[in-house]
Amino acid sequence: MLFLDVQIQKGWCRNMNPLLILGIETSCDETAAAIVANGRDILSNVINSQINIHQRFGGVVPEVASRKHIENIALVVDMAFEEARLSYQEIDAVAVTNTPGLIGTLLVGLSFAKAFAYGLGRPLIAVNHLHGHIYANFLEHDNIELPAVCLVVSGGHTSILYMKDRKSFEIIGETRDDAAGEAFDKVARFLGLGYPGGPAIEKAAQQGETGKIKLPRVFLDRNDFEFSFSGLKTASVNQWQKIKAKEGYSVHDLAAEFQAALVEVLVEKTMRAVEKFQVKTVLMAGGVAANQVLRDTMRRRAEALGIQLFYPSLKLCTDNAAMIAGNAYYHYMDGNFAPLNVNAYPGLLSL
Ligand code: KG4
Ligand code: ZN
Repeated sequence: MLFLDVQIQKGWCRNMNPLLILGIETSCDETAAAIVANGRDILSNVINSQINIHQRFGGVVPEVASRKHIENIALVVDMAFEEARLSYQEIDAVAVTNTPGLIGTLLVGLSFAKAFAYGLGRPLIAVNHLHGHIYANFLEHDNIELPAVCLVVSGGHTSILYMKDRKSFEIIGETRDDAAGEAFDKVARFLGLGYPGGPAIEKAAQQGETGKIKLPRVFLDRNDFEFSFSGLKTASVNQWQKIKAKEGYSVHDLAAEFQAALVEVLVEKTMRAVEKFQVKTVLMAGGVAANQVLRDTMRRRAEALGIQLFYPSLKLCTDNAAMIAGNAYYHYMDGNFAPLNVNAYPGLLSL
């Protein structure tokens, strides 16, 4: 394996403390780099968001995103070193997201990380983006008791996982079609509320009333952990076409009802998983976990059941590289390094 040669040539095994990992994340529209010590202490966390570039298109344009990552990646990585007051030579490993995500954008981060690791003679660690999201919780909370049920809700994924220990995850349910964040983005776009849709709908919903417009709680009656948000999106569009000209209804009411319908299903299914798997902990992760109504509703239910609920702070909920470096620490401890020919995979490989 190529990276082993590199270790031997450059004398990588330095036995230094603390263990410093550079994380790189380019799976979608954030160019991010971070340095984390011992899988816990964030020494730097630089995020260059392309949101204002994609806003005018109403969503992420993959080709544009890849080009912007290429322009920014070296600068963002340098900023991460500057913020951490470290030199390149001081890091112990380079971690990078290699799945899931947009293939072109993933390849930018992966290629950069390979070259950087090779040049420094440090091992490369390939990280699953969803594991990274879940590990954001471990960067901020010490007292997480496992096993846990994890709700991962991002722009690309909506899954409930059973996390037995820090290494084993089992998907127990996921969306059959659109991810929760994708539904937020598409409905916001249709309503002309802007991109990204999650924060836009959350803001609009604050001035609206739930229940005035009725939307379905899709799959709530099914005794499983599957989701479907494409139907909710279509129902939102259809309802809005019917009532937008009528008096007494506003786009805020639709935003509020859409958010309530989506949150109710997410919370209810998560709590059913808690009961089925008899866990004492729920972890939320991913961009949609930034939603305050979701956080509050989940909190109320968790308190009623006497279980612990964790979610990352807003900055660590959405895409960042600290979560990638944090997760990579456990790979490092297991000696789970990637060869230099490791590939990027747009679909979810395995969890
Ligand atoms: O995790 P993330 O940053 O990127 C992916 O891995 O996809 O998630 C982005 C998604 C977007 O769909 C965005 O609309 C949604 O997270 N999001 C929110 C909120 N903030 C971001 N959804 C609902 N409420 C929010 N406050
Ligand atoms: Zn993400």
